[in-house]
Amino acid sequence: MRLSYYFTITLLLFIVSCNQQKTPTDPIEQRVEALLSKMTLEEKIGQTALRGTSSRVKGALPEEMKEAVRKGHVGAFLNIMNTDYVDELQQIAVTESPNKIPLIFGRDVIHGFKTIFPIPLATAATWDPKQAENTGRISAIEGTSSGINWTFAPMLDIARDSRWGRVAESPGEDPYLGSLMGEAYIKGFQGDNLTDKTSMVACAKHFIGYGAAVGGRDYNTAIISDPLLYNVYLPPFQAAIDANVQTFMSSFNELNGVPASGDKKIMTDLLRNKMGFDGFVVSDWNSITEMIPHGYAADEKHAAELASNAGVDMEMTSQSYEHHIKTLIKEGKLEEKQLDFLVKNILRVKIRMGLFENPHRDKKHDGHLYSEKHLSLAKDAAAKSMVLLKNENTVLPLKKSQKVALIGPLADAPLDQMGTWCFDGEKEHSQTPYMAMKEKVYGYEAGLKYSRDKSTSQFKKAIQLAKKSDVIVFVGGEEAILSGEAHSRAEINLPGAQEELIHELSKLGKPIVLVIMAGRPITIGNIKDEVEGILMAWHGGTMAGPALNDILYGNIAPEGRLPITWPKSSGQLPYYYNHKNTGRPAKAEKFVQMYDIPVGAWQSSLGNESHYLDVGYLPEYPFGYGLSYTQFAYSNIKISKKEIVENETIEVSALIKNTGKVEATETVQLYIQDVIGSLTRPVRELKDYEKVFLKAGEAKRVTFTIHTNQLKFYNRDLKQVLEKGDFNVWIAPSAAEGLKESFILK
Ligand code: BGC
Repeated sequence: MRLSYYFTITLLLFIVSCNQQKTPTDPIEQRVEALLSKMTLEEKIGQTALRGTSSRVKGALPEEMKEAVRKGHVGAFLNIMNTDYVDELQQIAVTESPNKIPLIFGRDVIHGFKTIFPIPLATAATWDPKQAENTGRISAIEGTSSGINWTFAPMLDIARDSRWGRVAESPGEDPYLGSLMGEAYIKGFQGDNLTDKTSMVACAKHFIGYGAAVGGRDYNTAIISDPLLYNVYLPPFQAAIDANVQTFMSSFNELNGVPASGDKKIMTDLLRNKMGFDGFVVSDWNSITEMIPHGYAADEKHAAELASNAGVDMEMTSQSYEHHIKTLIKEGKLEEKQLDFLVKNILRVKIRMGLFENPHRDKKHDGHLYSEKHLSLAKDAAAKSMVLLKNENTVLPLKKSQKVALIGPLADAPLDQMGTWCFDGEKEHSQTPYMAMKEKVYGYEAGLKYSRDKSTSQFKKAIQLAKKSDVIVFVGGEEAILSGEAHSRAEINLPGAQEELIHELSKLGKPIVLVIMAGRPITIGNIKDEVEGILMAWHGGTMAGPALNDILYGNIAPEGRLPITWPKSSGQLPYYYNHKNTGRPAKAEKFVQMYDIPVGAWQSSLGNESHYLDVGYLPEYPFGYGLSYTQFAYSNIKISKKEIVENETIEVSALIKNTGKVEATETVQLYIQDVIGSLTRPVRELKDYEKVFLKAGEAKRVTFTIHTNQLKFYNRDLKQVLEKGDFNVWIAPSAAEGLKESFILK
C-alpha cells in the first residue's frame, strides 16, 4: 500500500500555500536573508550562473574561470572532472570571493558513476523502487568522491512513445510507477541527510512535457491538455517534491505554445505555488537562449527577461542572465525583488547542503569505486530488470548439458551494454555476456561487428558454429548510441543485418533465444516466430553479463515486467495502456485484417473500429507483462463490499498460486477503471502492485486496500474530484489481463 502517494498529491496540489512566503523565523531563511543583504547586484547575478564544459572536456582550468569565481560571478559548475580543479575552485570561492559563497558541482550521474547500473527504463522494469534507491545511493557514494555534489537526475518524464531516444532514461509510461521510481532515486542520491559527504543533491527533470515530444522527435513541441498534464505528467514530479528533491530542471520543449523555460505559469504558478517546490530551478543546457529559435524570445536579452521573470533560478551554460539582468533591472523589465527571489532559492539549497560549513570534497572518501558491494548491487538490479517475453517449449533456462552457440553483436560489447548517459563508466570494467559465459558456452561468434553492421561477411562463421550447437543464444539489440538524448528513431526494429542473420540461423532448425539489449522496446514482428525465446535485457550496465548468465542458466527466475507498452510497429506509437476508449473501441470480433478485405469492397466505415488494418489494435506485449520460469494462476477474486462512500476503504484480494516447478516472484498488479466520468477516464490505471515470492506449489492471497483518494482525478477545471458511480477493478499479471470485480462509489 502506498497510500501516502495519493494523500500527498491531494494535499499538495490544492491545499499547499504559496511557499514563497517562507516563515521569516526559519533559521535557514534568516541566513538566506542576511547573506542576500550583503550581496552586490553582480554577485547576485553570479549565483544564477551555472558554468561548465562539455562532459568530454576533462582538462584545463582556465584563468578566467578562477577569476570569475574570485569575483563571485559563478554559482555552480558542471562537468569539472579534475578533482584538483574542483578543490581549487571551491577554495577560491570560500576564501576569496566577496561573500565566500561555496560553489555547487553538477554532472549527469544518471544510472551510475563508475559502477554503471541498468538504464532507468530497465530499473523501472524491476518494479522494485529499492533498485532505484540503490542505483542513486551507489552513484552518489562514488560520484561525491570526485567532488560532484549535484546530479541532473532523476528524469521523470512520462514517455508514451518509444521512438523518443530518451525513453531509455525515463521511468516508462505510468505515472504511479514513475512516481515510486523517482522518489526512490531521490532518496538514494540525496541520502538521509543532505549534509552528508556522500549525498548528492538530485534534480527532477525535465519540467515539463518533454516526454510528450510530437512524433517522438527529441526536443519537439508538446501539446498536452491541462487535465492530462495533471493526471499523467505531473504526479512523478509531485512525488519528487514530496521526497524532498532540491532542484528541478526546466525542459527544452515548448508546451502548448510556450517554451517551458520562459513560462511563469509553469515555473512559478504551478511548480512553486501549487506544487510546493522550494528549491531551485536550473534551465536545461542553453534552454533559455533556445527560446529564440523557438520563436518566443526576440533576442538574448528578451530570453533572459522571460526566463528570470518566469522563475528559472539558474542558467545552464548560456549567459543571458549575466549579459542582461543588470540592464533589465535598470529598464524596469525585471524587478530586483524577482532576482532576489531566484538567488534566495539557490542560497537556501546551498545552506541545506551544509556547504557553508563543509564546502570541500572529503579527500579521504574514495567512493569505493567498483567495490564488490557496488558490483553485486548492480548485478542484482540488472538481473531483476530482465523481462522474459517469450519462452516456447521451455527453451529457457538453458541446461548446462546443452551446447550453446553464443552469437550476436551485443554479446561482447562492453561499451554498449552500459547504455546511454554514462559519462564516467569505463568499458574496461564491463563484464559482458561472453565474459560471464565463456566457460559454459560451446563457442562464440559475433556474426555482426556492431548492431548497425550491414555486412554479411561474418555470417558464415556464425552459422558454422550454430550448426554444431544444441541451442543458439543471439544477443542483439541496439548500441548505446542509438538511444538517449537526440537519438530518436522512426523505426525501432533491430538495426543492421541482425534480422537477416536470425533468418539464416533459423533455417538450421535449432532453438534460438533472442536476448535484446536496447534502450527501448524493439519491434520484432519479422523474427518473432523464428525464435523460441525472447528476453529483454535492456542496457544492463557494468554487470549485465553475469546478470544475464544468472537468468539464462536459471540461477534466478526472471521477474522484470514491462514499464512501457511494447508495440508491434512504430506506426502504432504513441501507444500506452491507460488510454481512453473511443466511441468505437476495437474488438476482436470486428477486426478485419486488410488482406481479408475483398477486392473492390464498397467503401464504408461501418463495421470497422478504432484499429489499424495492418497491425490491428493490440501491442506486441502489454504494459506490466513479463513471464517467469514458473507459471502463476490467479483465482478467487474477492471484494470486501460492493459499495463504498468517500474516505472509506475497500479490500480486493485474489489467490495467486505458483503452479510451476521453481520458486519465483510474481508482480501482482491492481488496476482500476472509473467507468463514467465528467471527463472520460482511461480504460484502466495502475493503482498499486505487490511483488510476491512463491515457492513451487505455494499459494498466497494478495490483498489490496483501495482508499477513495485513489479514485480521484483532475477534471476539466483542474479540480481534484471524486465522482460517484461504477468502478471496475482488476487483479492482474499485466495491463491486458486479470480477474475483474466491480463496486459502486455512493
Ligand atoms: C540534457 C539534460 C542534461 C544536461 C546537462 C541536456 O542536454 O537535456 O538532461 O542534464 O544536458 O548535461
